[in-house]
Amino acid sequence: MKTLKAFVVLITLLSSQSFAADAARGQKLFKSCVQCHGADGAGIEKQKAPRIAGQHEWYIISSIKQFKAGKERKNPPMLPFIKKLSNTDIADLAAYISTLK
Ligand code: HEC
Repeated sequence: MKTLKAFVVLITLLSSQSFAADAARGQKLFKSCVQCHGADGAGIEKQKAPRIAGQHEWYIISSIKQFKAGKERKNPPMLPFIKKLSNTDIADLAAYISTLK
């Protein structure tokens, strides 16, 4: 029983860690997005980059993953900036961008 409890605690700790996106880290990563989407994420028309500030986290994540895969949606100008992002990077970015107003 003790082992089981310890196991449950361990799993809970591990999963809460991997699921909690880090918006502060996302803010640092966002520096590479600013030239097109603007410092506040409001978008820059000249770059044809849309507003992303305040967008739902899940939608930001799904969009970036689609662009990265280059299948459902294509985005040549943005690709160099997102192709090296890990799933954690994308989640952290989304956590930050969704808080922008
Ligand atoms: C070189 C310019 C450029 C850079 C840098 C850039 N983007 Fe984009 N981004 C675009 C353009 C252009 C679009 C619109 C693509 C389209 O036609 O759907 C876009 C679209 C998006 C969308 C989808 C918006 C929607 O409502 O569907 C998200 C999310 C996004 N960018 C996030 C990011 C993040 C996060 C970064 C930084 C890691 C980043 N972008 C860097 C140009 C850029």
